[in-house]
Amino acid sequence: MNDVAQISIPDLVARQQPGYALEQPFYGDPALFERDLARIVAKQWLFVDHVSKLAIPGDTLLFEMAGESIVLVRGRDAVIRAFFNVCRHRGSRVCLKAEDNVRTLTCPYHGWVYDLEGRLVHAKNMPEGFDAAAWPLHPCRVRVWEGMIFVNLAPEGDPEVADFEAIAASLAPYFKPYRLADAKIVARKTYPTHGNWKLAVENFRECYHCAPAHPEYTTVNAYVKAGDDNPDGYDPIVNAWADTWRVKGRTVDRLGWASSDPRQPHGVFRQPIRDGFLTLSQDGRPVAPLMGDLDAFDGGETLAIFGALFYVYLANDHATLFRFTPMTPTLTEVVLTWMVRADAVAGRDYDVDRITWMWDVTTVQDTTIIGDNQLGVNSRRYAPGPYSVREQGPTAFVAWYLSRVG
Ligand SMILES: [Fe+2]
Repeated sequence: MNDVAQISIPDLVARQQPGYALEQPFYGDPALFERDLARIVAKQWLFVDHVSKLAIPGDTLLFEMAGESIVLVRGRDAVIRAFFNVCRHRGSRVCLKAEDNVRTLTCPYHGWVYDLEGRLVHAKNMPEGFDAAAWPLHPCRVRVWEGMIFVNLAPEGDPEVADFEAIAASLAPYFKPYRLADAKIVARKTYPTHGNWKLAVENFRECYHCAPAHPEYTTVNAYVKAGDDNPDGYDPIVNAWADTWRVKGRTVDRLGWASSDPRQPHGVFRQPIRDGFLTLSQDGRPVAPLMGDLDAFDGGETLAIFGALFYVYLANDHATLFRFTPMTPTLTEVVLTWMVRADAVAGRDYDVDRITWMWDVTTVQDTTIIGDNQLGVNSRRYAPGPYSVREQGPTAFVAWYLSRVG
């Protein structure tokens, strides 16, 4: 790797060419990674998990990312709270288990005990005048929306944090009919991806690579081939499909990026899957009962983008949630969660392998592609190349990234 110490970060940002991939230090330099975390990741609303993982009072789960650990807990009052997993005594991790059910949050080091609201309720042998009330766990901002739990590491009132409620309100018409809050998790898989988080996001934001790298995905999703001949080649099919379903009351129009908050851009894209395909399965046949309030298959898929690190693909009968978490400069954790309606019965109504087939095979392929991309970027001969017209996604993402990190 080149030595970033010789070049200041503002200089690196300033010399970056629009429409080109990022320069090498952005994809692995430790100082830039720290800056990414502080300026971008810590300002984002980050998806943690589904509410069903914190079903009853005392349930806890950890959200781990580069250098930070957040404890989420459902209190006796049923409210979900989040705390930095840092003992107020000498800073030890308080919770060590990924998931647990507890009566208190007790630090394993010196036994300081916090209640589920984060208040310090016991600390032995402290000097006269020690006021336990002054030493609660540091709270972390948390929101629960449509059954999905989000945290934000920035303090209350940080002007660089997007208005969560505004984002949620604009996404609501697309999510409400699927009733994700009432859905259940049927599968989860973690894909350790050996690439900088931005390589993982860029890859997810374009389908220029789909035909060469994803034969299965390309077979299912007709837009890939339609767009190869002409980037707008699928638009007439999308428009005709939207016209059909709009009159039936479906929210089919693309939200695009129009109402997006530059602090955390979001958008929704809807399109038909492929002629005759009802869902994102190998043969196009349903893999589970219709979700939520849907009363018919419309043959469409919805991609909702919730900032840089969280994406949801809604098929009519299942949802796939994609969580990207930066772990080190060249390691990104990608977690996929598949959900169906809660009253569906395994074996009778759905077969997990059919639900996970497309995105599992595709994400395994992406893990390899991104790892190979990182290895090439690390070379002494790497130089940023130009994006194609089919890579508007990464082009826009990189422009946004530079505007935030600079
Ligand atoms: Fe891919």
